Amino acid sequence: MVFALPNAALHLTLFIVLLSVAVKAYVWPSPQLDALESLRFELDRHSIASFIQPCTFFLFSVDGPSGRSNVADWIRTAYHDMATYNSTDGTGGMDASIRFAEEQARAENVGDGFNNTFRLLTQITTRYVSIADALALGAIIAIENCGGPEIAFRGGRLDAGEPNAPGVPQPEQDLQSHIDSFARQGFNQTEMIGLVACGHTFGGVQHDPFPDIVPALNDPNNTESVTHFDSTFINFDNNVAKEYISGTTSNPLVVGFNQTTNSDQRIFSSDGNATMRSFAQSSQLFASTCAELFARMLDTVPRGVELTEVITPLPVKPDFLALTLDNDTLQFSGQVRFWNMTEDPNRTAVLLWEDHSGATHNATMSVGDTSTGGGTTSLWYAFDDPGVRLDPVAGITRMSFSIDGELYDQDGVGFAVQDAIAFSKTSCLTNPNSSPIAGRFDIAVRNGANVTRVFLEEEVKDSVGRITVVETDFPRPASPSAATTAYSLWSLNMTQTSSTRTIGAEVDGIKMSTGRLAVLFDLPDC
Ligand code: HEM
Ligand SMILES: *[C@@H]1O[C@H](CO)[C@@H](O)[C@H](O)[C@H]1NC(C)=O
Ligand SMILES: *[C@@H]1O[C@H](CO)[C@@H](O)[C@H](O)[C@H]1NC(C)=O
Ligand SMILES: *[C@@H]1O[C@H](CO)[C@@H](O)[C@H](O)[C@H]1NC(C)=O
Ligand SMILES: *[C@@H]1O[C@H](CO)[C@@H](O)[C@H](O)[C@H]1NC(C)=O
Ligand SMILES: *[C@@H]1O[C@H](CO)[C@@H](O)[C@H](O)[C@H]1NC(C)=O
Ligand SMILES: *[C@@H]1O[C@H](CO)[C@@H](O)[C@H](O)[C@H]1NC(C)=O
Ligand SMILES: *[C@@H]1O[C@H](CO)[C@@H](O)[C@H](O)[C@H]1NC(C)=O
Ligand SMILES: *[C@@H]1O[C@H](CO)[C@@H](O)[C@H](O)[C@H]1NC(C)=O
Ligand SMILES: *[C@@H]1O[C@H](CO)[C@@H](O)[C@H](O)[C@H]1NC(C)=O
Ligand SMILES: *[C@@H]1O[C@H](CO)[C@@H](O)[C@H](O)[C@H]1NC(C)=O
Ligand SMILES: *[C@@H]1O[C@H](CO)[C@@H](O)[C@H](O)[C@H]1NC(C)=O
Ligand SMILES: *[C@@H]1O[C@H](CO)[C@@H](O)[C@H](O)[C@H]1NC(C)=O
Repeated sequence: MVFALPNAALHLTLFIVLLSVAVKAYVWPSPQLDALESLRFELDRHSIASFIQPCTFFLFSVDGPSGRSNVADWIRTAYHDMATYNSTDGTGGMDASIRFAEEQARAENVGDGFNNTFRLLTQITTRYVSIADALALGAIIAIENCGGPEIAFRGGRLDAGEPNAPGVPQPEQDLQSHIDSFARQGFNQTEMIGLVACGHTFGGVQHDPFPDIVPALNDPNNTESVTHFDSTFINFDNNVAKEYISGTTSNPLVVGFNQTTNSDQRIFSSDGNATMRSFAQSSQLFASTCAELFARMLDTVPRGVELTEVITPLPVKPDFLALTLDNDTLQFSGQVRFWNMTEDPNRTAVLLWEDHSGATHNATMSVGDTSTGGGTTSLWYAFDDPGVRLDPVAGITRMSFSIDGELYDQDGVGFAVQDAIAFSKTSCLTNPNSSPIAGRFDIAVRNGANVTRVFLEEEVKDSVGRITVVETDFPRPASPSAATTAYSLWSLNMTQTSSTRTIGAEVDGIKMSTGRLAVLFDLPDC
C-alpha cells in the first residue's frame, strides 16, 4: 500500500507517524520481551555484535580477505529460511528449519553460509530467544549497523522440529517461476523486485558453489572469488539499483555471461524497470521499502505462531534484580537503564519503593555503566553492593524511579517486585572437597505468600537444538525452619554442573524465575 503513493517524502512522513502511534512500549516485567529487548537494544553487551562488527568481518576466513562477510551470510540465511513458506496452507517460513543438514544439502541451498550462520546463532539462543528469533534479530542488526534503515522487530518465532518442504528460488529458473514462487511466499511481483534488490545490496556470488556463474578470481584480497552484486557490497545502499539502471553494474545475476542464470536481470526488468528506477532515484524510498519488506520477510512464520508486538526500547528498564535474605535484613539490589541518557554529575537519581503496608521509602542510586544499541547510548544507575536494606516483614511490592524530581512509574502501575522468595545467605557447601563439589541452596519463602513450588531451572537442548527448561523441585519442607519472622527456608542439595541453572517458583499459580544463578562455587562452607 505504501509504495503506491506518488510522493516518496509524504509516504515516509506517514510511515513514521503511523509507527510512533502504533508502537507502544510493553509493561515491565515480561521475561521474554525483556530478554529480546535487551538483545535488540543493548548491542555491546551481547556477543551478537562481535559477530557482525565491522561489516567486513568474516569469522571463517582462513587465508586473508575472503570477499565474504558474516552480515551477508546472515541475511541470505534468513531469506532462505523464510522462502519455504506456503501462504496457501501456512507451512514453512521463518522457523530456523534451514539449520537441518537435510535442507542445507538441497541444491537450492548450496554454500556454507547457512552452517556458518547457525554456528554463531546457537551461541545466543536462550529459553526466551529461539534460534529463529536470533536469526531474525541478527539479520536486522546486520542491516541496521551496515547503513540500513531501522527495521521493526517482533519476537516469538518457534523453531521447527524437522526440515520444511523445498521452495527457495534458484537463478536458472524462469521469470514466471520466480513470480509464482514469491507469490507462494506472500510477495507480489513489485515486492519480489524490492526484496531481491534489498537483499542483493549485500554480498555476491561465490565461485565455489556457483562455478558456472562466476569465475575463479585468484585475488589475494578476495580469496573466495566472490563477484559482488554492487560496488558497496558490505553496505546497505541503493547502489545495487543505481548501477543497474546506469548500465554500470557488475552484478553476476544481471550481466553474467550465461543468460539462463541472469535471474536478477529478468526480475529487475520485469516491470519495465519502474521499481528499480524509483530505487535508483531515491535512497530514502529504497530504505523505507526495504525496512517494510525485510520486516515482512522476517515476520513470515508458520500459521499458528503468534509473534510479539513490535519491540521498542523501554525508556526505563530495571534489570539484574536480586533479593537476598541475610539474617534479619532483606537486601535488594539491581540496576536500571535510562534509554538515551548521558551522565550528568549534578543529576539526582532516586529509587522509590512501596512495601506491603503501603509505606514508601527511597534511596539514592549510583551511576553505573553505559550500553549502546539502537543508535544511542543509555546510562545505567545501580543500587548495588549490597543494595538497599529492607525490613523483611514490610518487604517490597513495587518500585519507581525519580530523576531530578521527575517520576518514572510506568504510567502509574509502577515496576512490580516479587518478594515471595529470596536467596538465603545460609546457602552453603556441604562438601567442598568432593568432585564435583556439593552444596545446599536455601531459598527463603515468605510466610503467607501462596508459594506452591520452588525449583531449580536448567536450560538444556533437545535432540534438534531447541532450548527447553528442566525443573527440579525443592522439596516442600514438612516443618519449614524459620529464617526470620517473615520467611521460612526451603532447601535443595545439589552438585556443581557446568550448565546454567537458575531458581524459579510458582506464586499464586504463576511461574516466575528469579534469574538468580544457582552457582555453588561462591558459597561458604557449611
Ligand atoms: C529469485 C530470487 C533469488 C535468487 C535466484 C538469488 C540467488 C542468489 C545467489 C545465486 C547468490 C550467491 C550465493 C553464494 O554465492 O553464496 C545469492 C546471494 C545472496 N542473496 Fe540472493 N537470490 C534471490 C533472492 C534473495 C533475497 C530475496 C534476498 C534477501 C532479502 C537475498 C539475499 C542474498 C544475499 C545477502 C546474498 C549474499 C550472500 C553472501 O555474499 O554470502 N537473495 N543470491
Ligand atoms: C504489490 O502490492 C503493492 C502493495 O500492496 C502494490 O502497490 C503493487 O502495485 C502490487 N504490485 C503488483 C504487481 O500487483
Ligand atoms: C501450498 O499448499 C497448498 C495447500 O496445501 C498445496 O496445494 C500447494 O501444492 C502448496 N504449494 C507448494 C509449492 O508446495
Ligand atoms: C556445520 O559445521 C559444524 C561445525 O564445523 C559441522 O560439525 C557440521 O557437520 C556442519 N554441518 C553441515 C550440515 O555442514
Ligand atoms: C589488496 O588490498 C591491499 C589493501 O587495500 C592493497 O594494498 C593491495 O594492492 C591489494 N592487492 C591486490 C592484489 O589487489
Ligand atoms: C547456462 O546455465 C544453464 C543452467 O545452469 C546450463 O544448463 C547451461 O549449460 C549453461 N550454458 C552455458 C553456455 O554455460
Ligand atoms: C532495464 O534497464 C536495463 C539496464 O539499464 C536495460 O538494459 C534494459 O533494457 C531495461 N529494460 C527495460 C524493459 O526498460
Ligand atoms: C542475626 O541478627 C541478630 C539480631 O540482630 C543478631 O543478634 C545475630 O547475631 C545475627 N546473627 C548473625 C549470624 O549475624
Ligand atoms: C536521544 O535524545 C536526543 C536528545 O533528546 C534526541 O535528539 C535523539 O533523537 C534521541 N535518540 C534516540 C535514538 O532516541
Ligand atoms: C553542575 O553544577 C555546578 C554547580 O552548579 C555547575 O558549575 C556545573 O556546570 C554543573 N555541571 C553540569 C554538567 O551541568
Ligand atoms: C526520600 O525520603 C525522605 C525521607 O523519608 C523524604 O524527605 C524525601 O522527600 C524522599 N525523596 C523522594 C524523592 O521521594
Ligand atoms: C541435604 O543433605 C544433608 C546431608 O548432607 C541432609 O541432612 C539433608 O536432609 C539434605 N537435605 C535435603 C533437602 O535433601
Ligand atoms: C494458591 O495458588 C494455587 C494455584 O493458583 C491455588 O489453587 C490456591 O487456591 C491458592 N491458595 C491460596 C491459599 O490462595
